[in-house]
Amino acid sequence: MSNNKGLILVTGGTGYIGAHTVVELQQSGYQVVIIDNLLNSTVQIVDQIAAITGQRPDFIKLDLREKQQVAKLINSYPNIEGVIHFAASKSVSESVGDPLLYYDNNVCSLVNLLHAIKGKPIKFVFSSSCTVYGEPDQLPVTEATPLKAATSPYGNTKQIGEAILKDTAQAHSQLKVIALRYFNPVGAHPSALIGELPKGVPQNLVPFVTQTAIGKRPQLIVYGNDYPTPDGSCIRDYIHVVDLAKAHVAAIQRMQHNEMLDVYETFNIGTGKGNSVLEVINAFERITNVKLNYRIGPRREGDIIKIWADVSKATQELKWTAQLNLDDMLSSAWAWEKYINNNPFKND
Ligand code: NAD
Ligand code: WQD
Repeated sequence: MSNNKGLILVTGGTGYIGAHTVVELQQSGYQVVIIDNLLNSTVQIVDQIAAITGQRPDFIKLDLREKQQVAKLINSYPNIEGVIHFAASKSVSESVGDPLLYYDNNVCSLVNLLHAIKGKPIKFVFSSSCTVYGEPDQLPVTEATPLKAATSPYGNTKQIGEAILKDTAQAHSQLKVIALRYFNPVGAHPSALIGELPKGVPQNLVPFVTQTAIGKRPQLIVYGNDYPTPDGSCIRDYIHVVDLAKAHVAAIQRMQHNEMLDVYETFNIGTGKGNSVLEVINAFERITNVKLNYRIGPRREGDIIKIWADVSKATQELKWTAQLNLDDMLSSAWAWEKYINNNPFKND
């Protein structure tokens, strides 16, 4: 495979989704430089990426809140073709307690990055989220579904980020932007060398499931079974992180091939299929033959009842469709949990 498709800067590239995307970029022939301040990841991930792809991405430890440093870094790579911006803080509950951390880290970092690339012909991919839709009135949600008022500072930073990027792309013709609205990323690389590394007690379902199954957590609580859904538990559109990573490569290629219909575009990135919490648990038990210790608990405040994506725009325009199913997601997450149990990482 030729390594001449261009240099891509990946912010947050040692994080969960970033690391998987670096692998897919390298395997598609791109050169990669990672920027990360290791706030929520470890530099060991660079070795893990190199073990998968046989290529070591450049790694620069840098905090995107440091405006001068960001500008200096961008100037030191004059041939950057694209930027994929994952770096952000992502805990909804933390954002409620410390909103300024979120506005600073998620919004100021983005603005610093945009200042640094101003005037350069950059293809920019932004990590947005299905959280921008809130509790939808109609399902599935399309990209044209009106956004609801954000229910957390974290969600607000994604709406603000999208707005900043739209305005900036419209004002500066050199910049092209694709915002990918991820649904619920889960699973791990099939090599089991990279995956999600939650700090402390996981807030998300699948890491909690695998940590309970391996004995790190005593019991999983299902947050409510009295919702208006077929089995009473909440429904999400879970998307394999490897499929999600590939959507970023597709987005860069769409911009490189001048296929955009506008300077700023959004795409839903999900499978188009919803699964309930109880379906996830049952699938996990079936695939792994592990009996999960769980009980039904009260609802979690602020939870969306049900959401899944209409993915026809991504299929038609981005020419991307998810290939992996819930079983693939859960078996890879389980393989990764077993791997890190035997090979602990620094931020465990
Ligand atoms: P992650 O925490 O694993 O990765 C984010 C990375 O960014 C980490 O390695 C962290 O150290 C780094 N980072 C944070 N602030 C930084 C800063 N100021 N300077 C440099 N590096 C910094 O998270 P993830 O799950 O990989 O999420 C990636 C992106 O996708 C985020 O923008 C997140 O909001 C978005 N997203 C995630 C989900 C999800 O459920 N995981 C869903 C929708 C959207
Ligand atoms: C999934 C389902 C829970 C844990 C969050 C963010 C969102 C987005 C993705 C970034 C829900 C249930 C969970 C547990 C449970 N991130 N659950 N017991 O809530 O869709 O979204 O992550 O943009 O912004 O809010 O994902 O994995 O937390 O929950 O029953 O211990 O699992 O109630 O129905 P969610 P999740």
